[in-house]
Amino acid sequence: MSHDDGLEPPLWEQLAEQSAELHQGVRLQKVLAATGWGSRRVCEELIAAGRVTVNGDVAVLGRRVDAERDRVEVDGAPIGVRPGLVYYLLNKPSGVVTTSKDTHGRPTVVELVPTEPRVFSVGRLDADTEGLLLLTNDGELANRIAHPSHGVDKEYLVEVAGGPVSAGGLRTLRDGVELDDGRTAPAKVSQPQPGVLRLTIHEGRNRQVRRMCAAVGHPVTRLVRTRIGPLSDRSLAPGAWRELTSAERRSLTEAVAETRQHYDPSP
Ligand code: URA
Repeated sequence: MSHDDGLEPPLWEQLAEQSAELHQGVRLQKVLAATGWGSRRVCEELIAAGRVTVNGDVAVLGRRVDAERDRVEVDGAPIGVRPGLVYYLLNKPSGVVTTSKDTHGRPTVVELVPTEPRVFSVGRLDADTEGLLLLTNDGELANRIAHPSHGVDKEYLVEVAGGPVSAGGLRTLRDGVELDDGRTAPAKVSQPQPGVLRLTIHEGRNRQVRRMCAAVGHPVTRLVRTRIGPLSDRSLAPGAWRELTSAERRSLTEAVAETRQHYDPSP
């Protein structure tokens, strides 16, 4: 049954749907809608028109899929990939700004990638932060990734001043740090070398990692983003970029859809 009339389904129906999702997978129209193909109704129409395949077979209405394993395509293109959309993974060097124009004349990230079609960055890195940045003209996906409720993990390698971070400092970073704009959500933190942290957060507050580390007495001396959700690439040189592969685009789309289900269980 469709609930596009905006009314909440009864609780027992919601629970039955959640249990079905757990055991049989998620309804195909829900997965398509979560990846930006339109409302559930529009997605049902796509399926009914025979334009959607799952692992190469034309899907029928009522089909459920495992977003992790099944290969879903619309008109032969993996979901999340629509004509005219580009996705670049850039290794941003220090000194390059994320804004599209800098008032101080510093180089910008958009100058490092092709000028056409025009792209923008998904979130931002400080001028002195290095590492992975996604640039795209897909506004829908960009909003989903940047929104904290989707919880796409971002991992950073952080060199800090003040020597090794104590067990207490690491615990504070993990549990949440009191900042002037509120307490940070729990983070994953390890210290692969004394004074070097691997820190994973899903929020994207301004200068968040720098402020978290400073709050436990260890100002950041170097900050490198090493992963955005499923995207990482150790072989991308500073200043270099490449297009995402279709597998990466698919896993990124799925990561956003999955975290959305995790944070927002409403059907
Ligand atoms: N946290 C920061 O402090 N700076 C960045 O550029 C990214 C995350």
